Amino acid sequence: MGTGSAGDFLPSDPTLERMRAAVQGCRGCGLYARATQAVFGQGSTRAEVMLLGEQPGDKEDVAGQPFVGPSGKLLDTALVEARIDRTLAYVTNAVKHFKWKQMPGGGKRRLHDKPNAYEITACRPWLEQEIAQVRPAILVCLGATAAQAVLGPGFRVTRDRGRFFLSELGPLVLATIHPSAILRSDDRAAEMGGFIGDLRLVADKLVELRTAEALEGQP
Ligand code: URA
Ligand code: SF4
Repeated sequence: MGTGSAGDFLPSDPTLERMRAAVQGCRGCGLYARATQAVFGQGSTRAEVMLLGEQPGDKEDVAGQPFVGPSGKLLDTALVEARIDRTLAYVTNAVKHFKWKQMPGGGKRRLHDKPNAYEITACRPWLEQEIAQVRPAILVCLGATAAQAVLGPGFRVTRDRGRFFLSELGPLVLATIHPSAILRSDDRAAEMGGFIGDLRLVADKLVELRTAEALEGQP
């Protein structure tokens, strides 16, 4: 079960480095027990864009890094197409431990299992502190879990994707589909096109924000 909040395990004077170490000891929910390790965010500490996934997958759980498996490869391709430099972004997940279930019939593969509201809420202090430390201009939520973790349970990706929202967390927020939805789709090309389109809106907004900031500095 855990204590119900990752806040119980946050370092008292948090920095990204201290959090990266402390997250391995987190017992905010029960997911730590069956995962290999916690997967903390990764990327530029001064990133303009933060990309938020759901939770680490099988590959990420083993590697200890976010979005390095099949979804990560797809994300990389889409970011290139949208001209967003992943090395200048910060990539993380709403939930830091991999939640999985056994294959029906008892196969060896570990199947992704969706985190529940208790786990998402328990894990949110890590995300809040990552945002406070990195202070991105835009937070991109990949899929419904990430979007609902940030914008509330009423958020619907199908209805509200590709639009910018204000959030109390600080950055502008845009939600889009999760790359794994593209992998599962019957029409991958169309879904990928839509995904890249949403990411291009982010790239354009960044240009707009940089221009506005540059103008502010002028007499
Ligand atoms: N899916 C996610 O949501 N996050 C990852 O890090 C990998 C796959
Ligand atoms: Fe802590 Fe999040 Fe892991 Fe739960 S999933 S134990 S809240 S780091």
